[in-house]
Amino acid sequence: MGRLSGKVAIITGGAGEIGKVTAEKFLSEDSKVVLIDLSAELLEKAKADLAPYGEVLTIEADVTKEADVANYVNRVMEKCGQIDVFFNNAGIEGKVAPLVEQSVEDFDKVLAVNVRGVFLGLKYVLPVMMKQGSGSVINTSSVAGLHGSPNLSPYITSKHAVVGLTKAAAVEAAKAKVRVNSIHPSPVDTRMMRSIETGFSADHAEFIQEEFTKAIPLGRYAESADVASLVLFLASDESSFITGVQYRVDGGMGSR
Ligand SMILES: NC(=O)c1ccc[n+]([C@@H]2O[C@H](COP(=O)([O-])OP(=O)(O)OC[C@H]3O[C@@H](n4cnc5c(N)ncnc54)[C@H](O)[C@@H]3O)[C@@H](O)[C@H]2O)c1
Repeated sequence: MGRLSGKVAIITGGAGEIGKVTAEKFLSEDSKVVLIDLSAELLEKAKADLAPYGEVLTIEADVTKEADVANYVNRVMEKCGQIDVFFNNAGIEGKVAPLVEQSVEDFDKVLAVNVRGVFLGLKYVLPVMMKQGSGSVINTSSVAGLHGSPNLSPYITSKHAVVGLTKAAAVEAAKAKVRVNSIHPSPVDTRMMRSIETGFSADHAEFIQEEFTKAIPLGRYAESADVASLVLFLASDESSFITGVQYRVDGGMGSR
């Protein structure tokens, strides 16, 4: 019997690197898994990569669009009849530039995905979970949701907002025994970090990676699996008395 036996889990940004590795872990723990992402093409590739671990349901949706979010929640209910775990994880990094060089459009684009997307997910999934009287939501923030740093102001703003949404939702949902927590990874060895490193310095991306790594006491970036292990714990009943908490998975970065 797996740690998520009998559960139905939705993962947004499910075709992305952290989403897919988390799906792999969830499938290995006997969960049913639904991946949400922007395009059928991305989702088909993720489905094929995950085939050795089990079958996933995939639904194309833009998390910034209310009708898409309502639709994916309805479709999961039609197909599976329950939602036990919601990994509210889709996110974008935005442009790497000083605050004064960020355009209003760049700012709004990041907030649309990272804040409105997280809000809409909560707005449509929580009523299902609250009616069930059970469920666990894990919102993906970042160490950038707990600290400032240069050149990523829209991203940092958006990830701090995820903390506010998590706390507000946790307090409201607790009466229905639904839990809401946020996770705060340090840099993870993924496409997103390659994009950020190049954004800092296209010519010296490796040097930037070394500099970022120096800030992490355990001396390396996180792997997607490090993040997925934490998500699995928060998704499972092992964390049944934990809600409204901000969990770092940061190799000690926050202790400096
Ligand atoms: N990679 C890191 O270093 C790192 C560190 C801390 C936090 N995070 C956060 O972890 C989450 C996942 O990041 P990742 O590294 O897997 O990135 P990724 O780019 O590999 O995956 C993100 C996924 O979200 C999807 N997505 C983007 N906009 C969407 C939208 N409007 N609707 C639906 N799906 C959308 C993308 O298509 C992509 O598949 C993000 O929220 C990110 O901010 C990442």
